Amino acid sequence: MLVTFEGIEAAGKSTLIAALAATLRNRGDVVLVTREPGGTSLGDSLRDLFLDPALRIDPIAEVMLLNASRAQLVADVIAPALKDRAVVLCDRFFDATVAYQGFGRGLDVESLLEICLTATHRIAPDLTFLVDIPVEVSRARLQARGGADRLEREDADFHTRVRLGYHELAQRFENRFVILDGTASPDVLAAAAFETYERRRNAAIP
Ligand SMILES: Nc1ncnc2c1ncn2[C@@H]1O[C@H](COP(=O)(O)OP(=O)(O)OP(=O)(O)O)[C@@H](O)[C@H]1O
Ligand SMILES: [Mg+2]
Repeated sequence: MLVTFEGIEAAGKSTLIAALAATLRNRGDVVLVTREPGGTSLGDSLRDLFLDPALRIDPIAEVMLLNASRAQLVADVIAPALKDRAVVLCDRFFDATVAYQGFGRGLDVESLLEICLTATHRIAPDLTFLVDIPVEVSRARLQARGGADRLEREDADFHTRVRLGYHELAQRFENRFVILDGTASPDVLAAAAFETYERRRNAAIP
């Protein structure tokens, strides 16, 4: 089962994944945690380029960088793990490309979805958690963390478009998206995610 985690910067995706992975491993599930961009040697190199504040990257080039990383990750890591019936928890997946490069930067959403599905060998998530926080909360958390990568330097309007884009995707793909309130405490979020995961998994197993 492929479970992906989406949301704007500092929404709490990585924190939630760590908690859910620990819960599932404690009871004996085989869990693979990975992230985008990255997760392979090629992907990690592309991630460094992608996040480099010194680079000005053309939006289409950005899409191709992300999908190169994605194709390698699916081929080398995600598809084999799914074949072995592991639970794969992926920190961002192609919805992020559609939200950031489509809704955020204004590229055509339908074309992006097609490019992304080509990159994933047409594998789509079974379940997607959208960890949702207001842009101001994101700003405050990023300031507390200090430092800013290339995307974090984008203005508030950009992040507002991305957040709304995620909501559009959640409506369009409502059978796999679940929206979680990222301003809730980490414990509450982890419990909600676990409960949803259990319900979906039990529904998927005949
Ligand atoms: N539920 C929560 N409530 C309050 N703060 C939180 C919560 N979850 C995470 N945080 C804090 O917010 C910050 C960002 O959390 P985290 O790194 O998990 O977010 P992220 O979505 O993975 O961010 P990024 O987009 O940068 O990868 C951290 O300082 C973390 O401790
Ligand atoms: Mg993270």
